[in-house]
Amino acid sequence: MSARLTVANLSVDYPFGNDIVRALDSVSFDLAGGEFCAIVGPSGCGKSTLLRAVAGLIEPTHGTTTINAADPERPDQAMVFQGASVFPWMTVLRNAAYGLEMRGLDQPERERIASEFLRQVGLGDFFNAYPAQLSEGMRQRVAIARAFAMDPEVLLMDEPFGALDEQTRLVLQEELLRIWEDTGKTVVFVTHGIDEAMILADRILILSARPGTLKADIQVPFPRPRRLETVRSDPDFNALFLEIWELLRDDAMVAIGG
Ligand SMILES: Nc1ncnc2c1ncn2[C@@H]1O[C@H](COP(=O)(O)OP(=O)(O)OP(=O)(O)O)[C@@H](O)[C@H]1O
Ligand SMILES: [Mg+2]
Repeated sequence: MSARLTVANLSVDYPFGNDIVRALDSVSFDLAGGEFCAIVGPSGCGKSTLLRAVAGLIEPTHGTTTINAADPERPDQAMVFQGASVFPWMTVLRNAAYGLEMRGLDQPERERIASEFLRQVGLGDFFNAYPAQLSEGMRQRVAIARAFAMDPEVLLMDEPFGALDEQTRLVLQEELLRIWEDTGKTVVFVTHGIDEAMILADRILILSARPGTLKADIQVPFPRPRRLETVRSDPDFNALFLEIWELLRDDAMVAIGG
């Protein structure tokens, strides 16, 4: 069983000098347990803000976010932050096991779980390496393994592949699909890639330019289990891509001052 996520009338204001900036405005949606949801929207529209609110890292100005935990023993959420966030002074294995260390699991148990996910993301030979000895893509994979190892009710991923080259991104998309199809987690995945959202998600939420409002909620029809090549060669792929781009184009121009 996976958790449901409810976001109800969520608005977030940030202080800005003597004023405030509204980052999100009355965003509401519901995710069923095990649903993979992508969030797409122009730069600065409040995507990271939305994840931080769901993670409980910031207090909503209005509204609520609720994770209906399926299992009280599990942490509500784990986040993969925008830009790789690993501890440079810890080995790969300790980084991947860090969330479990915080939960108080003993060392053999947390290392057993962490090493399993490190192998799944292709880092089986790097347990004792330090982050500085890895490539950017490998560091990002450590952060992903750490989040999965936590076995959270909801997995929050903020542009986890944003800084990577195309080939590494494609490989990691396949790895994520495979791990997700095994675990059936509820996922909120922020991306600026329309194709990435279409390949990974069951559902795509499109946010408008700041203040972010929910502009569209699109079901992705491609069958599971998915493979990159079958999704990209699906006869409906291009039409859906263009439908989403139509929704994003004007706001993308506003966001960059065009
Ligand atoms: N800590 C903060 N203090 C003040 N304003 C903030 C803070 N964090 C974000 N903002 C503002 O809130 C708005 C939304 O920011 P957010 O980081 O959520 O956007 P985003 O959609 O994740 O953008 P990107 O795609 O560039 O990552 C922006 O206008 C930003 O300037
Ligand atoms: Mg962001």
